[in-house]
Amino acid sequence: MLGKNFVDKCLNSKVLTDPWPHTVTENHLDQKEFNSLLNDCNRLLEIKLKDMPIYKGVTENHIIPQHFKDFNINWYDQILDISKNIYENRKKLCDVFLEHRWFDDLIVTAYVGVTPPVPYSHILHQETISKIWSSVTYITPEKNCGTKMYTEGKKESLVKEAQWKPNSTMIFAGIEGKTWHSYNSTEESNRITLNFFIKNKEGLKEYFYP
Ligand SMILES: [Fe+2]
Repeated sequence: MLGKNFVDKCLNSKVLTDPWPHTVTENHLDQKEFNSLLNDCNRLLEIKLKDMPIYKGVTENHIIPQHFKDFNINWYDQILDISKNIYENRKKLCDVFLEHRWFDDLIVTAYVGVTPPVPYSHILHQETISKIWSSVTYITPEKNCGTKMYTEGKKESLVKEAQWKPNSTMIFAGIEGKTWHSYNSTEESNRITLNFFIKNKEGLKEYFYP
């Protein structure tokens, strides 16, 4: 039911249009499953990114489901169930947004994102062309920066922020020249999120589902 509920709530969320179409779904994951993920993710709050075995010299770490065990994240079946339901409902999920990209061969990628502490700031971007549907669920800590939305590729064009709240999800369909966004860290701990993307399969070596 976890994956079905996840998708159902995406499909029933109101589309907000300012500054561009997106949804914000509160209490998105079933509470019991969210609490279990939260418990596991709280252990990642103080971890140094370069001490993580998957560290590749980049500024953010993505813990893919295949590596969950290495980090004591007991959520493989859950992330698989959600990814499967996202894949099976890919057209419906994209159609929530009037305008969206599409490719014939699509896949779902999924990971737990670990963003370093303040003053880390992710570059303002539109969304890579290969990503057609992007979902971020805020996990822990209690307070942080959610997703900042802009009308242009410059900081002065900031319109608003999807508020960070544990178990809230922000979703949008990336559109070139439109879906400008960024995020940063406001706390002394890492910033932990659950991320799903529907992406073009072409050229990808690794993906999660199917
Ligand atoms: Fe992005």
